[in-house]
Amino acid sequence: MKKIIAFAGSNSKQSINKQLVEYTTSFLTDFSINLLDLNDFDLPIYSIDLEKKQGIPENAHKFLNLIRNSDGIVLSLAEHNGSYTTAFKNLFDWMSRIESKTFFGKPMLLMATSPGGRGGASVLEAAVNRFPFHNADIVAKFSLPMFGDNFKDCKIANLELNNVLQEAVKALKNSL
Ligand SMILES: Cc1cc2nc3c(=O)[nH]c(=O)nc-3n(C[C@H](O)[C@H](O)[C@H](O)COP(=O)(O)O)c2cc1C
Repeated sequence: MKKIIAFAGSNSKQSINKQLVEYTTSFLTDFSINLLDLNDFDLPIYSIDLEKKQGIPENAHKFLNLIRNSDGIVLSLAEHNGSYTTAFKNLFDWMSRIESKTFFGKPMLLMATSPGGRGGASVLEAAVNRFPFHNADIVAKFSLPMFGDNFKDCKIANLELNNVLQEAVKALKNSL
């Protein structure tokens, strides 16, 4: 069975992006899903001085190995001030010091959601522009605006948006 790692770019215990990721993986029933939480990969803030002194922390190696050993990635990025959350960027920075081709060409469904009307469009754009330099294979992207209105009872309530997500999931399945 093919292995998918799924996670949110957030360290919030109530992360709306994690909720979206969980919902998305419910359509990937023929796959082995490993739902990850950034809180389980605690890392110090990246510093070149710390790296020189202590090397790269084990948790960065662990997460990178999970990507390396997966067949595909489902990731939903939370947006803080138009960009990645500190927690995600920090993990990304540490991992990129081990391997600049951080995503190993694994097919990726890249998403974002936020309570606002842009649905994390800025962080999604930042990632779409940057991740390919790290060997990401973004096969589909999806943004869910106004999470509070559009996501109810653990699912996307808006039919049109739900259909867009289904197409994105299909694209991921087809590339695995
Ligand atoms: C410091 C901070 C900055 C934020 N900046 C943005 C932003 O630029 N755009 C946006 O849509 N939402 C922004 N938000 C709201 C987040 O989208 C919201 O907190 C969301 O729940 C984050 O996703 P998460 O629950 O998966 O962590 C911000 C929230 C915080 C705490």
